Amino acid sequence: MSVETLHVALIGFGTVGKGIYESIEEQREQLESLLGKTISIDAILIKDGDINREVDNNVLLTTNVEDLLSLPQLDVVFEAIIGVEPARTYLAKFIEKGCHIVSANKELLAHKGKELRSLATKYKVGLRYEAAVAASIPILSTLREGLKSNQIQEISGILNGTSNFILSELQQKELSFEQALNEAKEKGYAEADPTNDIKGWDAFYKILILSDLVYGEQPEWDRIIRKGIDEVTSADIKKAESIGFRIKHIASLKPSADGPVISVEPVAVTSSHPFFHVAGVNNALQVTGNLAGSITLNGPGAGAYPTASAMIEDLLSLYRNSSESVFYSPSKENGAEVPDWLLLGEISEVMSIELLPLSENGAYYASGNRSDIETYLEQNPFLKLYPLKGLIKEHDRSNLALV
Ligand SMILES: NC(=O)c1ccc[n+]([C@@H]2O[C@H](COP(=O)([O-])OP(=O)(O)OC[C@H]3O[C@@H](n4cnc5c(N)ncnc54)[C@H](OP(=O)(O)O)[C@@H]3O)[C@@H](O)[C@H]2O)c1
Repeated sequence: MSVETLHVALIGFGTVGKGIYESIEEQREQLESLLGKTISIDAILIKDGDINREVDNNVLLTTNVEDLLSLPQLDVVFEAIIGVEPARTYLAKFIEKGCHIVSANKELLAHKGKELRSLATKYKVGLRYEAAVAASIPILSTLREGLKSNQIQEISGILNGTSNFILSELQQKELSFEQALNEAKEKGYAEADPTNDIKGWDAFYKILILSDLVYGEQPEWDRIIRKGIDEVTSADIKKAESIGFRIKHIASLKPSADGPVISVEPVAVTSSHPFFHVAGVNNALQVTGNLAGSITLNGPGAGAYPTASAMIEDLLSLYRNSSESVFYSPSKENGAEVPDWLLLGEISEVMSIELLPLSENGAYYASGNRSDIETYLEQNPFLKLYPLKGLIKEHDRSNLALV
């Protein structure tokens, strides 16, 4: 009996594209046995035709997308290029041609995920993008497959490895922000232009993808708090450390009566919080379901092979008919919990909110709604505000005082 062949093509042959190619070759036997088909990488689309690429002679290397579109049979397209266009136009054409899509392109999916999903539904093909959020950490499949009976009450995550690396370096070594950023560039963790990472855009795109998946919608972008790690000083990090807290860059997603609420910003975490020990370029996510409780996933959030791992798992999931559907939480209720805050710096005007001094050098705990706390801060420009995650001892809370 002849074995069927699965015909695939790659769009992009950079860090991720090469990682997919090499991983398929490396794991070929295992993958073909799982699929019950042989895999043929028929073509690769690149931008620069002058670069020498190490690929098998049978693979068509081309700079012209029409060469891929005119292949006699194409089952799956792996897309790993950067930005919204031309990726959106290309993927729409492949979907209309009846190809399944596996993408790693977070910027594309944050902007055009909805449009591409409905096109994929119309043409009855799969659109998968596990790699776009935290690379090899299986957060999308956990939400799609593992928590379906739950209402998702919160998702929060360290979603940008470059930011986490820089914050970890600042915490562990006597470095300035610029020095830590240069170290990240030297190690290949940060781009020459690191704006997307350090201004929080990369984490913003990823949490929007999760919002689409979990709640079927995104908040208005101009209502989302997005702050990067460039707003954190090493003095703040040291001061937080001296009282047993760490500053982490965290993206959060919660339901509310008015739709999903997202924030992307530096947050202080206590030593009891699962993100406290997440160091270096690693990513982590915590999902809270009403039945399951809080689950934490932690691992590599970038890199050729971790990203390829997620994309190849997507390929396998397409052929075992796993769930395609967006996961809607039936409840949009948000617990009326009052958030905690860490305030660092000097108090210039008497505060009319209750603050608990956490040290003698200008670190305070407060509890209250963001808008109330921010109002008080307008009179105290030398204080910086960090949301605080993790347990605060009951004893400390009972010592709250007006400062
Ligand atoms: N790197 C990671 O760890 C990681 C993790 C998760 C998700 N992602 C996402 O994966 C995607 C790719 O990232 P990467 O790190 O692999 O980028 P990269 O190393 O810069 O590679 C980009 C590739 O895309 C090709 N390309 C660019 N524009 C093209 C066009 N118009 N037509 C055809 N090919 C084009 C480039 O071709 P040439 O080689 O000819 O220049 C290159 O091969 C991005 O969307 C990124 O956000 C990356």
